[in-house]
Amino acid sequence: MSDDASGPEDRPVALVTGASRGFGFLLARELAERGHDLVLCARSAGGLDAARADLERHGVQVLGVPADIGVAAEAGGWSTRRWPGSAGWTFWSATQG
Ligand SMILES: NC(=O)c1ccc[n+]([C@@H]2O[C@H](COP(=O)([O-])OP(=O)(O)OC[C@H]3O[C@@H](n4cnc5c(N)ncnc54)[C@H](OP(=O)(O)O)[C@@H]3O)[C@@H](O)[C@H]2O)c1
Repeated sequence: MSDDASGPEDRPVALVTGASRGFGFLLARELAERGHDLVLCARSAGGLDAARADLERHGVQVLGVPADIGVAAEAGGWSTRRWPGSAGWTFWSATQG
């Protein structure tokens, strides 16, 4: 459980690609434990749903965005999304296979 007592608008937002399993998921979990809201990217919506359900147990907001980071149109749409109420992204990690 996060020990960050700040409100959602104050929390840092981390973007993690390849986040539905493996290294990306482990990184996302570590960030959630440290109080980051998360935007997760992977191709499989089902995989993202499972990761989101797990990570939300840490008390942070999690948004899953299905996209293939290797397809320019999908990657561009994903990377320009904004988190409602946030000043912007604070972290980026590319861990997809
Ligand atoms: N595991 C190791 O021992 C090891 C060692 C050294 C280096 N690495 C490297 O570290 C990286 C991650 O390894 P891992 O073991 O964590 O892999 P993994 O368990 O297969 O997880 C890969 C993640 O990336 C997502 N992904 C794959 N292709 C994607 C794409 N085109 N766009 C968006 N998301 C994509 C996958 O979800 P979807 O399939 O749903 O897209 C999944 O969430 C790989 O590049 C691997 O070569 C791994």
